[in-house]
Amino acid sequence: MDEARRGGWASRFGFIMAAAGSAVGLGNIWKFPYVTGANGGGAFLAIYLVCVFGFGLSLVIAELVMGRMTGRNPVGAFKRLAGRAWPAVGGLGVVTAIVILSFYIVVAGWAIAYLFYALDGALSATDAKALNALFAHLTGAPLTPLVYAAVFMLATAVVVACGVAGGIERMSKLFMPLLFGILVLLVLRAVTLPGASRGLAFFLRPDWSSIDIGTVSAALGQAFFSLSLGLGGLITYGSYMSPRQNLGRDALAVVLLDTVVALLAGLMVLPAMMAAGMTPAEGGPGTTFKVLPAVFAAMPAGQLFGIGFFLLLTLAALTSSVSLLEPVVSYLVDERGFKRATAATLGSLACFALAVPVSLSFGVWHHWQLAGLTIFGLMDFFASHLSLPIGSLLTAICLGWVVGHPALDELASHGRPAAAWAPVWLFFVRFIAPFGIAWILIQGLIPG
Ligand code: TRP
Repeated sequence: MDEARRGGWASRFGFIMAAAGSAVGLGNIWKFPYVTGANGGGAFLAIYLVCVFGFGLSLVIAELVMGRMTGRNPVGAFKRLAGRAWPAVGGLGVVTAIVILSFYIVVAGWAIAYLFYALDGALSATDAKALNALFAHLTGAPLTPLVYAAVFMLATAVVVACGVAGGIERMSKLFMPLLFGILVLLVLRAVTLPGASRGLAFFLRPDWSSIDIGTVSAALGQAFFSLSLGLGGLITYGSYMSPRQNLGRDALAVVLLDTVVALLAGLMVLPAMMAAGMTPAEGGPGTTFKVLPAVFAAMPAGQLFGIGFFLLLTLAALTSSVSLLEPVVSYLVDERGFKRATAATLGSLACFALAVPVSLSFGVWHHWQLAGLTIFGLMDFFASHLSLPIGSLLTAICLGWVVGHPALDELASHGRPAAAWAPVWLFFVRFIAPFGIAWILIQGLIPG
């Protein structure tokens, strides 16, 4: 495969924005606040941070290294590096990307719907009951949310079809900085609302008594989801990196940006939630959508902030959803010989087909549950609690043990030897990540 046909990043800044664009998305702004709320607040945050820096950072580097070493999609990368059964790990990643996209586009569709509500002035209600009803009305409808999901899926496919530098990179460079700016303003308002301090304490002061293995497993899954780890998305992004790029430094930048945005989202949502008299444990997947209108209402030019926020949330979701579709597409292009546009179309159709039951599981199919989980809950559980940790575990074993020391060469730059921290990184990839993740997975499976 000639590199010109695969494409590549046009600049280092462009890569960082695209990779940060992948990491920063609904996982930070929609998922992180309600998962933190459901898992006891501050103690969850502490464990989350341990997962991000204990496992996440070294694995982000590992996936990027795998991509740049091989110049391939997830399946192709495992095939080149390890052969035998290893490509199946990449295959699991491609399937997981489709599963995640199936609920990702539904939630992104809600963001588009809320953008229209904000434009209409329909978000000016401040009481929790009205905001709950609005959310239930939207997500409970059989058809409307699917129309928005389809629009979002189409937008994702178009960007991916436009290619790496022309589509993904150009879009990310523009929107990421704007999103950051608006978040900071919203946080400033949220933390100064009357009654916000209880939410701040909930988020920032760990209550260790609320912790069990379920919390740890949720924190691990959330960290991987947020960092775009475990399904080869970053292998794919790494495959478009230039050999001259300082991989370690750029990976650190991406991890820090992602973490800061998650923290900002927590600071924005949890205090506002408690100020509005809601209990964090009960927010669920509607939390961000139910809570933020109250923050807008308490700001000057609140309607404008509402419009700006949901617009940027939609765009942040788009820079992430393209990174979920991209491994699927690059697999179909590299391994199956499809054209980019055909691959994007096929991948999107598969995701949308799965999105139908997911969307209905917030409404008419809500009663359809297995072990207390709706169809959405099952997809999310499969991805965050099983596939992403298992994919990360196997990636670490492959790179740390099967590839081993040659991987260090990727961390050298401009002909200089590998950075001083490179052996430390390899130690994390060989020992800390595999044993830590395996321990959490096994503990989580032991009943009681
Ligand atoms: N990280 C994104 C978010 O937080 C979601 C995402 C994009 C993702 N690419 C991924 C999750 C790859 C897992 C794997 O919204």
